[in-house]
Amino acid sequence: MTAKSPERRQVVRFAFYKLDSAWRRLSAERQASAKLEFGETIESFAGRLLLRPYGLVGIRGDCDFLLWQVAEDLDSLVALQTALNRTDLGGYLAVPYSYLAMTRRSIYEFPEAPGAGQPSRLVIRPSDARYLFVYPFIKTRGWYMLPKTERQGMMDEHVRIGRQYPSIRLNTTYSYGLDDQEFIVAFEGDNPADFLDLVMELRESKASSYTLRDTPTFTCVQMSLWDMLDTLGGAGSAQAVSRRPARADGYTPVATLADLPAGSSRRVYAGGDAVALFNVDGTVHAIANRCTHARASLSEGTVDATRCAVTCPWHEGVFSLETGQVLGGPPSLPVATYRVKVEGDTVLIAPPGVPGVMDAREPIAPRPRS
Ligand code: FES
Repeated sequence: MTAKSPERRQVVRFAFYKLDSAWRRLSAERQASAKLEFGETIESFAGRLLLRPYGLVGIRGDCDFLLWQVAEDLDSLVALQTALNRTDLGGYLAVPYSYLAMTRRSIYEFPEAPGAGQPSRLVIRPSDARYLFVYPFIKTRGWYMLPKTERQGMMDEHVRIGRQYPSIRLNTTYSYGLDDQEFIVAFEGDNPADFLDLVMELRESKASSYTLRDTPTFTCVQMSLWDMLDTLGGAGSAQAVSRRPARADGYTPVATLADLPAGSSRRVYAGGDAVALFNVDGTVHAIANRCTHARASLSEGTVDATRCAVTCPWHEGVFSLETGQVLGGPPSLPVATYRVKVEGDTVLIAPPGVPGVMDAREPIAPRPRS
């Protein structure tokens, strides 16, 4: 008998946090340092687990943010929560909902959509979708009494309906045996209306009559760590981040490659400035986030990989991502560019002209002393 080759499985935690409003009455000084400490604690786990922050302020009353955590082992999840509990902000946070799950191959057959690649269901790869819709899910025991062929038939209907909503992407993880539900489902999408229509249609499917529980439901908004901390109120994250001491080489860690997959962009903060990061075909570029025409957020612009340029989302000003120069449209002034380097999974930036800072794209060679 041949031994089964070990599969790479991941543990997944959806932890929802609620802030005690007493924190908002602390001094701005303490709020700023608490945000910085909390944010840096999360960043320090960048190489150990994949962590995505989402905001729920303005959406639900019983939780303020979600940390979607994906790790290779349970110890990493324990270590992260332990570290967060030790922070000043952690003293004001409760965890009203926490769901633990694991990746696993489905027992049902899911033929891939025409033209789609073969996704691995064992490794979580979050997209850049603006929203995440999360809920715990339990089926009735009667479902498991049905012959597998009958269940497969109902799952086929489920898949047919899902494919009518290609803008919605599903991540299913398995909880039964680890936590109080059977599955945690997390749908990603840019349009809440698409998700609403999808689940209303799924509710009329045959499989739906075998659902025992599928609440509570969380609608979560993806945002940078610092933007998420700003939704909590108190001193601004930009103020907190501006206190972060720069490294001796002038570079500041601002993101991980896991957070910035090829083709994506995001806003980060460095030295109190908002900076737009772009991953163009595997090369990371950083420019000032504000358009010099009317201050639109360039991280929300459209990237032309061929020209290595971004088009502003408001009036179609075009900026080179390599030089910051205006390539078209109404802006007359260029945007500042930042130097970028990648260490392991960490993206670091430094403003141009910082003494001792070399452009990472330059060949590294000893320089003669002057
Ligand atoms: S704000 Fe960017 S082109 Fe007008």
